[in-house]
Amino acid sequence: MKGIKDLFKALTLIFVISVCLASCEYNKKEEIQIGDLPDPILYGEHIQPIFNTNCITCHNGSTPPNLTVDNSFFELTAGGYINVDNPEDSKFYKKISGSGSMAQYASDLDRAYILKWIEQGANDD
Ligand code: HEC
Repeated sequence: MKGIKDLFKALTLIFVISVCLASCEYNKKEEIQIGDLPDPILYGEHIQPIFNTNCITCHNGSTPPNLTVDNSFFELTAGGYINVDNPEDSKFYKKISGSGSMAQYASDLDRAYILKWIEQGANDD
């Protein structure tokens, strides 16, 4: 009888430890830190989703720039919003950071992604 109890205790312990480890592993994947962004930043994979989530309720044609998937890259680059020679001075970056009127719609992580994308040449990939 005692043997079965010990076995049961051991199994419970193993189960609890596995659940803890699994949840730690899960959290690690969820939280990308600002200092640990993917390299290179890919426009379609990392930048457009920010617009889809935070911006296109308004920027969908009526309010420039149009940030919907088929328009955003062209509007930003051809519209003079991006300055690859001085990324932090880009009209686009200034608008979403500091006292810019769009800063409220972007998180620190969003800003870091966008700045790094501009620093890497603001490519469409
Ligand atoms: C609730 C609606 C709304 C949301 C959400 C929103 N914007 Fe805007 N945006 C506006 C309005 C209105 C203007 C024009 C007034 C101004 O410049 O503040 C504007 C202006 C801008 C401008 C300047 C355009 C120009 O040519 O001067 C940029 C760049 C911009 N938004 C980017 C963004 C980004 C990026 C996001 C998402 C992170 C975003 N906006 C989210 C409503 C919105």
